[in-house]
Amino acid sequence: MSQKVLVLPGDGIGPEIVAEAVRVLDCLRADFGLEVEVEHGLIGGAGYDHAGKPLPDDTLAMAREADAILLGAVGGPRYDKLARPLRPERGLLAIRSELGLFGNLRPAILYPQLADASALRPEVVSGLDIMIVRELTGGIYFGQPRGIRELPGGEREGFNTLVYRESEIERIGRLGFMTAQKRGGRLCSVDKANVLEVTELWREVMTGLAAEYPDVELSHMYVDNAAMQLVRSPKQFDVIVTENMFGDILSDCAAMLTGSIGMLPSASLDERGKGLYEPVHGSAPDIAGQGVANPLATILSLGMMLRYSLGRGDLADRVQQAVGQVLDQGLRTPDIQSAGTRSVSTGDMGNAVVEALRA
Ligand code: NAI
Ligand code: MG
Repeated sequence: MSQKVLVLPGDGIGPEIVAEAVRVLDCLRADFGLEVEVEHGLIGGAGYDHAGKPLPDDTLAMAREADAILLGAVGGPRYDKLARPLRPERGLLAIRSELGLFGNLRPAILYPQLADASALRPEVVSGLDIMIVRELTGGIYFGQPRGIRELPGGEREGFNTLVYRESEIERIGRLGFMTAQKRGGRLCSVDKANVLEVTELWREVMTGLAAEYPDVELSHMYVDNAAMQLVRSPKQFDVIVTENMFGDILSDCAAMLTGSIGMLPSASLDERGKGLYEPVHGSAPDIAGQGVANPLATILSLGMMLRYSLGRGDLADRVQQAVGQVLDQGLRTPDIQSAGTRSVSTGDMGNAVVEALRA
């Protein structure tokens, strides 16, 4: 039985960049024996425009059926005045929580061809290849109670709750260990165990799991130190596993080490390996419709899908190689342009990746 892929282009540059990833997908189906069924759906502002909701019912139904989902981006100034439940971003939060996508994989890779895009010195970052595994459905972003309340006397106080169950820590921990097994075999668990009881438990659970993964070397680091180390010497890391809020901040920090937001893919996985794959960047309304958006983050997200949900690590490697080849050829969308390279459109870049795959 062939697997099902759901494609959700979304808003802004979403449709432009997703179209190029779909061309790569079509090439893999036609020429590389990839057997998948592909369906298309609406999400975000596109869902609101056509069905009155950022996550239309039929999109959610298709998403439940799918083995993997490729998403562009959602949001844009046209939708900023909508009530919160109708905003495009709600569609993204809803699909993640409806599908139980608790494990967010965010690689930070600096392609040697783009070493000058980083704000850090080349010797600090060139060849950087780290993976941040962030817990995505728990922690302080979801904990109850939460709110803003008035104290006796009239002063207001805001409060949120950081809470994790052992089972939640264990499943993200296992994803961290398994990810490290597929990479360099080193896992750094980031916590604040010196101050927060929740992360004292986190550290205990991680240490307990380590016995089951003797091929992975586990270390622990406090989050404030991890932030410093990421900037001081990022190449010391292989895989980092951490809770939701720490991971939100550290993964954005790691992403910026590469200097190229248009190059960064991500995956959000459930317990069985079903996943939502999307570029890290947003809908870039400032350049939407101009044919200049970089499609490589979305194409690399498709690469992650091949590896983590479709069981085709071989094709994932090929996609990554093809991206390396187009960079070697000096092709650049404007966001990654530097002296001596050739500026190309979104479509030209997609074309070049397909050509490199076929060559
Ligand atoms: P953004 O990531 O859309 O854009 C930031 C800057 O990076 C802009 O200058 C943009 O032109 C550039 N950029 C982003 N992707 C690019 C690409 N592929 N090629 C070339 N340049 C690229 O973030 P921003 O401006 O904060 O948000 C814009 C909209 O996107 C908002 O409505 C926001 O809510 C939404 N958003 C959606 C996300 C998602 O769908 N996962 C994530 C982040 C923001
Ligand atoms: Mg963020």
